Amino acid sequence: MKKFKMAIVGCGDIARYTALGVRLNRKIEIGACVDIDGERAMAFAKKFKIKNSFDDYEKMLEDADVDAVYIASPHNLHVGMIKSAILRGLDVFCEKPIATTLNDALEICRLSKETGRKVGVNHQYRYDSGCYALISAARKGELGDIYYGRCNVPWWRGPEYFGDAPWHGSLERSGGGTLLTQASHIIDVMLLAMGGRPVSVFGVVDKKVYQDVEVEDTALGIVEIESGRRLAHLTISASMIATPEQKVTAEVYGSKGTGIYTGPESPKVKFLGAKIKMEKPPGRGLSNLHALFRSIEGFRRWVVDGEKYLTPVEEALLVLSTIMALYKSSATGKREPVDDRYLEFVR
Ligand SMILES: NC(=O)c1ccc[n+]([C@@H]2O[C@H](COP(=O)([O-])OP(=O)(O)OC[C@H]3O[C@@H](n4cnc5c(N)ncnc54)[C@H](O)[C@@H]3O)[C@@H](O)[C@H]2O)c1
Repeated sequence: MKKFKMAIVGCGDIARYTALGVRLNRKIEIGACVDIDGERAMAFAKKFKIKNSFDDYEKMLEDADVDAVYIASPHNLHVGMIKSAILRGLDVFCEKPIATTLNDALEICRLSKETGRKVGVNHQYRYDSGCYALISAARKGELGDIYYGRCNVPWWRGPEYFGDAPWHGSLERSGGGTLLTQASHIIDVMLLAMGGRPVSVFGVVDKKVYQDVEVEDTALGIVEIESGRRLAHLTISASMIATPEQKVTAEVYGSKGTGIYTGPESPKVKFLGAKIKMEKPPGRGLSNLHALFRSIEGFRRWVVDGEKYLTPVEEALLVLSTIMALYKSSATGKREPVDDRYLEFVR
């Protein structure tokens, strides 16, 4: 059997987990890895038994024989790297966020459509067993009309988070702090579960602890969602300064029942009021061990077998538009509309 060959781009934190997921997947091989820090790329290649390592992305694209790239570099590099890969005929699996601006994200959607190259974004919470069951129940109407939802990401990141990877603290390189970088996963899940169209956001982002960086460590917001005849509301709270760090929670309140998720470690969902059959995310064998591994295998099946992938690039537009509106609202002090240009591609 010919294996699906991927190159890993950016041999940092998350790439280690992805490489582990790939090593457990008999159908995928890591054909190459690249990091601007060539020694890091070489050490990564040695650890994960990868034949070719590079210190230059374009050279890697030229020389390596791969079917797709997995991009896990700082956020501002995603768009340029995706374009280069598409122009060389490769499919792309990119870490969230797809881009730091909606314009860039829309451009990638158009390019993917024009060229037929597949671009998946790793919003892997869609493959989390608890989130998947929550989304399925809400989307099937089993919780009734959705009135409101609430999500909370009370996480902790120590000073080394910025010290070891200074790009995390730069607005130009990251595009944002805890809202974009950590909370986007669960906001994506909530928007999908609640359905409808987010129309406006009121929010505040703040630097409560980390004053010497450009990005927020705390974010709070209320999203107004047009859903049938009434408005539904989603409240968001996220931080990287919660002591001690606690689990993510996501709650959906409907006319027939309530769904409450906690995770992502040992993910669980509890349904109150309604009797719900728990739907399971797609995943087989060892790739069923973790949401990230399911997402990687989901991407492979999408490219190789044409099966449905849960986060093709256009699905990442809604969460990005909503987050951008929250940042804008924090800057203007007013409720801001959600840019609806995602409608060119979804809903
Ligand atoms: N899905 C998840 O749960 C999850 C978790 C953590 C991070 N992420 C995402 O993964 C991506 C990477 O985050 P991270 O925490 O691993 O960052 P990191 O800083 O640990 O790793 C990024 C790597 O990219 C390398 N790099 C920088 N410029 C490069 C270039 N021009 N060419 C090649 N390599 C380059 C850096 O040297 C570094 O090794 C981000 O998009 C982040 O949001 C996703």
